[in-house]
Amino acid sequence: MLKIKTSCFLWLIIAFSSNVVFAQKKQNAFYPGQLWKDDKGVHINAHGGGIVESKGVYYWFGEHKVAGEKGNTAQVGVHCYSSKDLYNWKDEGIALRVSDDLKSDIAKGCILERPKVVYNKKTKKFVMWFHLELLGKGYEAARTGLAVADKATGPYTFVKSYRPNPGILPFYHEGTSLADQVNCTKPANKSDGFFCRDLPGGQMARDMTVFVDDDGKAYHIFSSEENFTLHLAELSDDYLSHTGKFIRIYVGHQTEAPALFKKDGTYYMVGSGCTGWDPNPARWFKSNSIWGPWEYMGNPCIGENANITYGGQSTYVLPAPGKKGQFIFMADKWAPKNAIDGRYLWLPIKFNNQKMEISWLDKWDLNIFK
Ligand code: GAL
Repeated sequence: MLKIKTSCFLWLIIAFSSNVVFAQKKQNAFYPGQLWKDDKGVHINAHGGGIVESKGVYYWFGEHKVAGEKGNTAQVGVHCYSSKDLYNWKDEGIALRVSDDLKSDIAKGCILERPKVVYNKKTKKFVMWFHLELLGKGYEAARTGLAVADKATGPYTFVKSYRPNPGILPFYHEGTSLADQVNCTKPANKSDGFFCRDLPGGQMARDMTVFVDDDGKAYHIFSSEENFTLHLAELSDDYLSHTGKFIRIYVGHQTEAPALFKKDGTYYMVGSGCTGWDPNPARWFKSNSIWGPWEYMGNPCIGENANITYGGQSTYVLPAPGKKGQFIFMADKWAPKNAIDGRYLWLPIKFNNQKMEISWLDKWDLNIFK
């Protein structure tokens, strides 16, 4: 009895002192690839993520991973963190929880990747889009899913999942190259073949992002056609569905992990190749119109390990706070054997005229932006 009491007392002391001694130290820099602790001292768990700003607060949403290979499936849901300075993040908990109902589209153990939240000024709702794979079906469902909330931190309510744009052909204009067009009576290549196969039921939607333009219009950009081709598709005014207007980008070249931003009226996109969890060279594109033509510009990374994006894969590009025309490249360094240990590589984007450049830095802060 006495033994139990003594050990309880010891625990109390340890718990109390750890709170005092180990309270999370304030950070004032980014350390790409290092453990990044939240306000509770726990490595941030928001992989394949994106950020939405609301009233001066930044909300980071990403895949909550658990330990081991099991962490490559959604055991918990989408985790949210908040910050005012981008260095120090407060744990806001699980914003969208997977369901215990095995019949739900977002049943526990499904694959739910690359969540991106956008705020709709008209409806005043936060809308979360993500890549969804149904439980037990590997990567074959290739659906997009969405959830909504009244508050940035949630809780988000799952709305639906589906394959976009069934029965609809891409939008063409004078700038559309022949290579980006498709003729389903005679598909010209493998990717066209996948497009035509999926035309009746809707197009495959895997790696993705959502981009909101200055005029409030939102676009869903996703790897489609068995990951051979990117689609850029317009969303409805409430951001809850696709309008049916879309284009194909860089047909047949397997672009994944798209992240889009706009600088001085020009649209930029950065993405990766298609090698699963293994890193590969990043690639970037630019265009004068959201509808293209999107010009392939090569690898934006420079220096050692530029050919493997420093071990990472793009997930989002964030406008630097208070620095007009300056942007932060956000990437994930995946750890598929122990998914929870995935790291975050945030690096500043530099522009050499209109040329996008990314270089490795062990440590940096927002003063780098002039
Ligand atoms: C990557 C993709 C990740 C995940 C992974 C699975 O290429 O970007 O989001 O889907 O493949 O192998």
